[in-house]
Amino acid sequence: MLWKIGIVGFGNVGQGLAHILNRKKEILKRRYDFEYIMTFIADPVRGSLYNENGLDLDSVLKEMALKGSLKNRPEFTDKGTLELIEMAKADIVAEATITNFETGEPGLSHMRKALSIGSHVVTSNKGPIALALEELESIAKENRVCLRYEGVVLSGTPCINMVLECMSGCDIKSVAGIVNGTTNFILSKMEEGYDYPEALVEAQKLGYAETDPTSDVEGWDSAIKAAIMANVFFGAKIKVTGVVRQGITKITKEDIVEANKEGKRIKLIAEVRKEGNGVYASVSPVAIPKSHVLGSVMGPINAVTFATDHLGEVTIIGPGAGRIETGQALLSDILAIHRCYVCK
Ligand code: HSE
Repeated sequence: MLWKIGIVGFGNVGQGLAHILNRKKEILKRRYDFEYIMTFIADPVRGSLYNENGLDLDSVLKEMALKGSLKNRPEFTDKGTLELIEMAKADIVAEATITNFETGEPGLSHMRKALSIGSHVVTSNKGPIALALEELESIAKENRVCLRYEGVVLSGTPCINMVLECMSGCDIKSVAGIVNGTTNFILSKMEEGYDYPEALVEAQKLGYAETDPTSDVEGWDSAIKAAIMANVFFGAKIKVTGVVRQGITKITKEDIVEANKEGKRIKLIAEVRKEGNGVYASVSPVAIPKSHVLGSVMGPINAVTFATDHLGEVTIIGPGAGRIETGQALLSDILAIHRCYVCK
């Protein structure tokens, strides 16, 4: 089956997806009978491209790596992103623009537009999913298309669809995990003897933390992921501001040493659980025994433990960020949509 795909946002994640689709083209066809053409790439900064017969991804990716811009390519278009989404009418739109926790924009408008014209949407963009999942799902339903968002919590490490699909029928009693790689890296470095500022600089050098690391170290990134899990797994309607939140900025080397003496490690834990008739979500530094699975996760790695009725505790450990890792999340959602059609 041949799919017309468009990518919105050609930064790390968009390029990661394009790279995987390009590299695995033959394998995807052989293994899943999945064929595609990439009809558009929308990115006002790097340059938007359109070709109804399909872009040559190999050469697009090479040009991007070489020049950092697509503006001199023959397929270049100066159409705005919303106009391009509407004109291209792709079967699947992969939305991979930078997340905005406050407004969800511009991703939210891109998703509304794509779903309303009948394109399936796959995304790793947390803002729109945290702010407007219900609305987006209702537009998707009205237009008989899918909205899938595997990448919003652990990038390509299975989380959302593992619970919704592989564990369907299970009741999730609680979720607790390390959902931010930057802070886990910093805390791991502090255990090696670094001060907080030194560990932060190291995280920035390696590209884990942003130049402005507030969203990671103050716990906002973990809080938005906790809110998404609360809403998706527990049917709550929690906003990021409704998550009780404390980051790692006040953790000292001495706190880490004290925890160590008790056989524990400090981890930034996102927790979601049922409480009475409601749902409680929090993010805070917690001293966890080193023998506990979450206590053993070091560096930029993420891990989440689900307490369930049918399976007891299930823990998933893996990368929670990265170009190829998040591209993989988008690919898995694209292939899930493809499976719905080939299994009909
Ligand atoms: N800043 C995030 C992290 C990236 O460090 O985990 C993925 O959301």
